Amino acid sequence: MSSELIRAEKIVKNFGLTKALQGVDFTLNSGEIRGLIGENGSGKSTICSIISGIYGCDSGELFLKGEPYKPVNMVDAQKKGVAMIMQEMGTISSIKVCDNIFIGKEALFTKNGVVNRRAMRKAAGKILEDLGAGDIDPWASIDTLNFENRKLVEIARAMYDDPDILIVDETTTALSQRGRDIIYQLCDRMSSQGKGVIFISHDLDEIMEHCTALTVLRDGVLIDTLDKEQMEPSLIKSLMVGREMVGDYYRSDYDGSYSEEVVLSMKEIYDGRELKNFNLELHKGEILGIGGLSECGMHEVGRLAFGIEKPLRGSVKLADGTDVSQPYIATRHRVGYISKNRDQESLMITATILENIELPSLKDITRHGLLFRKDEKALAEEQRKLLSIKCNTVDQPVKSLSGGNKQKVVFGRWIGNKSEILILDCPTRGVDIGVKQSMYQLIYQLKKEGKSVILISEELAEIIGMSDRIIIMKDGEVSGEFARSEEITEHKLIEYMI
Ligand SMILES: Nc1ncnc2c1ncn2[C@@H]1O[C@H](COP(=O)(O)OP(=O)(O)OP(=O)(O)O)[C@@H](O)[C@H]1O
Ligand SMILES: [Mg+2]
Repeated sequence: MSSELIRAEKIVKNFGLTKALQGVDFTLNSGEIRGLIGENGSGKSTICSIISGIYGCDSGELFLKGEPYKPVNMVDAQKKGVAMIMQEMGTISSIKVCDNIFIGKEALFTKNGVVNRRAMRKAAGKILEDLGAGDIDPWASIDTLNFENRKLVEIARAMYDDPDILIVDETTTALSQRGRDIIYQLCDRMSSQGKGVIFISHDLDEIMEHCTALTVLRDGVLIDTLDKEQMEPSLIKSLMVGREMVGDYYRSDYDGSYSEEVVLSMKEIYDGRELKNFNLELHKGEILGIGGLSECGMHEVGRLAFGIEKPLRGSVKLADGTDVSQPYIATRHRVGYISKNRDQESLMITATILENIELPSLKDITRHGLLFRKDEKALAEEQRKLLSIKCNTVDQPVKSLSGGNKQKVVFGRWIGNKSEILILDCPTRGVDIGVKQSMYQLIYQLKKEGKSVILISEELAEIIGMSDRIIIMKDGEVSGEFARSEEITEHKLIEYMI
């Protein structure tokens, strides 16, 4: 029999002028995997952060298994059985994996004031193993792990306490199938044990497949909760945006043509790790999709193409022969890059929206050696409108934005810089379906204007939907290449990935 795990009543939360939650009533019952969906900035992370003790609320009440519940912080919530996997990076840099898992719990391994590191390492190894991530070395420094594995470490930390309620905030979008499967299995396990999961995602297919019910938020208001039978894409979308969504999602043509002119070439790249002898040519007016499993080397291709990493052998060159050896050189030549690791690599998180957007364009808007506020503001406002960045003012710090809105700022930076070449690594990560649609249309329009795009993505549907040409990578090499066609299916591409 299902019973009530958490109940939130009339939750109100404001951030300055922003009404993040306007009186939300929300109940999670045992055995549920409750999806939570809504546009960027609709309040999903906020309600979950309140439940998991990260923020207090301005008014309203919480009940845990019928008892009043007022967590003072995240650790307190965890003690009471509520754990959350955060949307942003939730591990701590420059310490080991096992320290990340047991942070704040060292006492478990302490005797006479000495921490038994070996026992801690062993326990960390076991929990990673249980999770299906036994390949992660508990003794490794967290900084040597990629995004996905760091997320798995975060999950291991959350699961060690055997929580009754697990909140997964948009974690899956940035993960490969393996990481996603680990999370799905975990959700199923929790559900079958009579525990509960709140699962935030922008991916309708994923929600319909894995969630037992779905709550829709819009502008800080809970619009409706659908049970499994009621979940239907067009209904969900219209509940989310408050109107019928029209127009194409991806591009609708199968033309797939582009100029023969090569704008960026990577030759015989050896990076000492994933890539052994990698070659790539990007053409003017081409959208080149790159797909593969997360370790296949595709993310490295993006980093090398923007000069963040240098190959040990081989070259990355622009059409005029320029060596892309540093990001500033790339930027100067109108190459833009969106990193998969947004908060660490793409954004100056404490700076304002305006400062983030103008960064690569400072030279362009400088007049007589001076920077005029009017020009700065015009540049930022243009992007704010184009991408409907949800904020009060462009002078707001980026860190106060919701996840998807931060992503729009990164996008806006390179659109504002009039990039000729865009290297996009999981660009629509965390972006709601409405904005995703406009980003796709924007990418397509850029192509038609003769710009070139490398679209690296874990989402095969996105690559198939948008690319003129697709390359699939496996173990650092190209395992398949496909021209745009109606015939390409995800299934077919997967064969070349594994
Ligand atoms: N720390 C903060 N300071 C100021 N405003 C904030 C803060 N956190 C969230 N907000 C604002 O509250 C609103 C709700 O944000 P929230 O992060 O809950 O959205 P979300 O539904 O999780 O969106 P996304 O899908 O983009 O992650 C947004 O307008 C956001 O800008
Ligand atoms: Mg969020």
